[in-house]
Amino acid sequence: MSVEVRERHGTREGGLEIRRLTLRNLGAIEEIERASYPTPWSRSMFAGELTKPASISLGAFDGGVLVGYVIVSRYVDAWHVMNVAVHPRERGRGIGTTLLERLFEATASDVRRGYTLEVRVSNEGAIRLYERLGFRGRGVRRGYYTDNREDALIMWKDPIRPREPA
Ligand SMILES: CC(C)(COP(=O)(O)OP(=O)(O)OC[C@H]1O[C@@H](n2cnc3c(N)ncnc32)[C@H](O)[C@@H]1OP(=O)(O)O)[C@@H](O)C(=O)NCCC(=O)NCCS
Repeated sequence: MSVEVRERHGTREGGLEIRRLTLRNLGAIEEIERASYPTPWSRSMFAGELTKPASISLGAFDGGVLVGYVIVSRYVDAWHVMNVAVHPRERGRGIGTTLLERLFEATASDVRRGYTLEVRVSNEGAIRLYERLGFRGRGVRRGYYTDNREDALIMWKDPIRPREPA
C-alpha cells in the first residue's frame, strides 16, 4: 500500500507511504504518542495491539520516517479506532485523513461492521475530522478520561457499502 500526497498538498518532495506497523517502529511510535497525549499508551500496549490478529495498525511514513499511525481493533459489533496520532510538526497536511481512509479501504470487505471511537469533547479539531469522514456523535461517556474526568463523545460510522456492480 502506498499513497501519493504531493499533488494534494503541493509542498513535499516525494510521497507519503502507508504501510503496516511492525515492532521495529515502536520507538518512533512512542515519540509521537508522548507528544500527542497527556496520558500516553505504554510501549507494551502498542506491542500488544501490533501483534493482535484482530487489530490493524497502519503507519504513515514520509521519506521512511514515521509521521503518524492509526490502530483499530475488530470487535463483535464494530471496528474500534483505538488510537490515531500524527506528529505535531506534521499536522494539518492530510495525514490523519489519509490514514483513516486507508483503514476504511483495508476493512471495506467487512460489510457487517461499522466503526466507532471515543474522543474528548474538547478535541474539536479531531471531531471535525471524524465528522468529515462520516462519523456522527451518538452519545457521551461521562468522566471517561481519568486525568481530568473529561467526558468522551462516542462516535459511529456505518459500514463501508460495497461498490455497485458497473
Ligand atoms: C487528530 C489528528 C490525528 C489529526 O491529524 P492531521 O494529520 O492533522 O489531520 P488532517 O491533516 O488529515 O486533518 C486536519 C484537520 O484536523 C483538524 N486539526 C486538529 N488538530 C490540528 C492541528 N494541530 N493542526 C492542523 N489541523 C488540526 C483541522 O481542523 C483539520 O481540519 P480541516 O482539514 O477541515 O482544516 C492530529 O491532530 C493529532 O495527532 N492530534 C493529537 C492526538 C489526538 O487528539 N488524536 C485523536 C484522539 S481521538
